[in-house]
Amino acid sequence: MATSSSSQPFSTESYFQTQKPPAGLEEKSEKMREFVEKWKAVDGKKVVLVTSGGTTVPLESNTVRFLDNFSAGTRGATSAEYFLSQGYAVIFLHRLHSLRPFSRHYSHSLNPFLDLLSIQDSSPTSSSASGSGSSSTINVSPEYTKTLLPILKQYHETIKLGSLLSIEFQTVNDYLWLLKSVTESMSSLNRYGMFYLAAAVSDFFLPEEKVAEHKIQSNKGTLSLEMDQVPKVLKPLVQEWTPEGYIVSFKLETDQALLIPKSRAALSRYGHQLVIGNDLHRRKFEVVFVERYLDQSSNGNGKGKGDDRLKGTITPPIIESAQQNGSDVDLNSANAQLKKEEYKETWLRLDQLKNGDTANGKGKNGEVEIEELIIKELVDRHQRWIDAKQ
Ligand code: PMT
Repeated sequence: MATSSSSQPFSTESYFQTQKPPAGLEEKSEKMREFVEKWKAVDGKKVVLVTSGGTTVPLESNTVRFLDNFSAGTRGATSAEYFLSQGYAVIFLHRLHSLRPFSRHYSHSLNPFLDLLSIQDSSPTSSSASGSGSSSTINVSPEYTKTLLPILKQYHETIKLGSLLSIEFQTVNDYLWLLKSVTESMSSLNRYGMFYLAAAVSDFFLPEEKVAEHKIQSNKGTLSLEMDQVPKVLKPLVQEWTPEGYIVSFKLETDQALLIPKSRAALSRYGHQLVIGNDLHRRKFEVVFVERYLDQSSNGNGKGKGDDRLKGTITPPIIESAQQNGSDVDLNSANAQLKKEEYKETWLRLDQLKNGDTANGKGKNGEVEIEELIIKELVDRHQRWIDAKQ
């Protein structure tokens, strides 16, 4: 199949005007809206949207083949658990069948849950274990109870509180519509809403009119595809859909040298608060937080001179040290210096924990997970972002 390229790339606006909303959008949107309203009524409650897993791009409408983006959903599912333990209400927008909070500890490939179980047969005949009316009981083998118990407790607590809402997407079109919809609901949370965009979103898609209806036949020889670019929705998300939200995006690279420049470029293009850079092969051990310093001449609403959408809560070192010493600060000269060192990078590494370890270690075998460190840092930053508005 060969398709011709659109003369004009899709803008976010033209995308939503031309691409149909997915089935079930209204129902899912309503669930997310109700969830947000429920928690908005609780004073000081913070709500985070965690996006997780990779999006697909179907090549046929009766889909046999599709293009996929890499992500098992580990980052998102693990992070969602740590947000919950920090008191957040969590909307978990995730790829169908990718990892989910709590159950991720017992994924079928890494830790199949059947292996945790043992059968205790109290009937006189051993055949009762498989038959109906059996008096057999199924137990968690004692060696697994210790690790399962805290997970199960947190899971039950979460269900009781109703603090986790899981919503599924599959295609990049599902993802974009759902993201827009949930962001519109969450914008009413103002600064109490956080967006943690860990999903791996396709950069390319096939517009509806270019998608083959039936399975593409192989007897025609080679397959040529020309795909359109997915509009970068981060821009309207930051600048229009939720101007007060605390927004964290991820940058995945395979060349470590590109991590910081690409993260900086994303901050500069979209104007949000934080990019978390991660290298594909080192993402479970280290990440880098890339942020912009707050221009001190801005008016506190993120409106700085020459940059009307600069958001940030990080005080530049020159001002921080003057404040600590109780001396006056010349904002003009501070900002002049700021132009030279606009960005701040903070590396988080698991090996930093060896001295003065304060992490809980809720991983599969009690090991510390990098997401625990990430979420602790984010909770502090989000609180500062909220406080800066008071
Ligand atoms: O799940 P794991 O296996 O643990 O893997 C986790 C991860 C490596 C996938 C995750 O940590 C990660 O890096 N996710 C983002 C990867 C990515 O697709 O980056 P990107 O450069 O395409 O997008 C950057 C940001 O813009 C992302 O936050 C994305 O959600 C957002 N985006 C991208 C494209 C688009 N059209 N709209 C968007 O909002």
